[in-house]
Amino acid sequence: MDKEAFSGFYKKEINERQEIFAKEFDLSEEDKKLLTKEGPLPFEIANKMVENVVSTFPLPYGLATNFNIDGKDYIIPFAIEEPSVVAAASNAAKLSSGFETSADDPVMIGQIQVVNVDGAKAKVAVEKAREELLSFATTIDPILVKFGGGPKDITVEVLNDEEGDMLDIHLLVDVRDAMGANAINTMTEKLAPKIEELTGGKVILRIISNLAIYRRAQAKTTWTKESLAASTKGQFKGEDVVDAILNAYRFANATQFRATTHNKGIMNGIDAVVIATGNDFRAIESGAHSFASYEGNYSPLTKYSKDKEGNLVGEIDIPLALGLVGGATKVHPLAQLSIKILGIKTANDLAKIIASVGLAQNFAALRALSTEGIQRGHMRLHAANIATQAGASKEEEQIVAQKMIETGEVNQGKAEEILKTMRTGGSLAS
Ligand code: HMG
Repeated sequence: MDKEAFSGFYKKEINERQEIFAKEFDLSEEDKKLLTKEGPLPFEIANKMVENVVSTFPLPYGLATNFNIDGKDYIIPFAIEEPSVVAAASNAAKLSSGFETSADDPVMIGQIQVVNVDGAKAKVAVEKAREELLSFATTIDPILVKFGGGPKDITVEVLNDEEGDMLDIHLLVDVRDAMGANAINTMTEKLAPKIEELTGGKVILRIISNLAIYRRAQAKTTWTKESLAASTKGQFKGEDVVDAILNAYRFANATQFRATTHNKGIMNGIDAVVIATGNDFRAIESGAHSFASYEGNYSPLTKYSKDKEGNLVGEIDIPLALGLVGGATKVHPLAQLSIKILGIKTANDLAKIIASVGLAQNFAALRALSTEGIQRGHMRLHAANIATQAGASKEEEQIVAQKMIETGEVNQGKAEEILKTMRTGGSLAS
């Protein structure tokens, strides 16, 4: 590969880039076909979304069923590569008594960092000018203000390290149905010269914070003892499942090693819907994990308790900076389809759905983990995948998968061994 062939790559048309790529990496005809095959995201749109596009990268797009949120039924699109996540969310939703939700106003934080200041004096100067700064900020995005959003407050904190004082100014902005980064970044950049004038310091960073503590969504539901017992097909009593899940929750509260995996289970569902709706999953991920340690210890993002009847109550409270206007949500045809099937009008509606999914996903994993173990359900759905990786044809795939599940060994080595036995006419009896 000659790296010079890629110079000015971004100035080329997609087909020219594909040709350079194919030539420099000596791609086969089959590779080239893969590269040039268009899917639901047309190349022309992809090319406007990111730089140096040569193709698109599809993920499975599946529908989670059975969700009832605030009395309304939903079918929820997931974009995800991991088996069993969609099935688990659908199962958790089916077993639940329906989700009740709420969401904060969509207020995001823009940070302005000021250095070379006497912290205490500079803080007073900014606080004194709060009203004036807010009225100026209100003129920056009149459309946002017209839709009921706009700057709401300014707060100031003095930070300090070995180099001296710094101001951390927070501009709080109601960004309505936007994720908010563009509106906030514009406002903080325009405010910066005024801040320098007021403080005599130097503004360095002017940027949104992804720790969206003011923009959280909450969801709550109950899983009755009866539905929990039924979910184990009579193997466990409902009371025992409730206690097992509460013990699993205690574990996540007690150790960060478990809390991290517990929260990963929540993000399985959250990321899948965030991606399916064209939202920024990195912003959601960083915000969620930062919020998980906001009180000091890294903690689970869900809570579980027992109600008076001994049923399991699950709750989630999580920052969700989501947008319906702008970004990929507006231009990606499948993201548009996702929004359409969800039938939502505001970013807050989406946040409530996604919070419910996070709770359902976490419950599903805890239920499986604390009863039969994760491998049965997860591996049942993963087995066909492994069989294919081991070289099984379409006809062989299900037989190999079934055989692996029966033996309790779901891995590529076992799949290859079963395939070999099948193909050489050996006995498959275990
Ligand atoms: P099951 O009890 O064998 O399922 O559970 P079932 O056949 O009785 O079906 C119950 C319902 O599940 C179905 O209802 C469907 O809604 C759904 P129905 O429609 O039949 O009335 N369902 C499916 N939906 C779509 N496709 C399917 C399918 N099968 C069932 N093929 C199940 C099976 C997989 C649901 C269960 O074992 C389960 O929930 N397991 C948990 C799996 C899981 O959490 N996976 C996430 C990945 S693991 C991970 O990364 C996170 C983790 O580390 C996090 C943590 O540690 O906390 C575990």
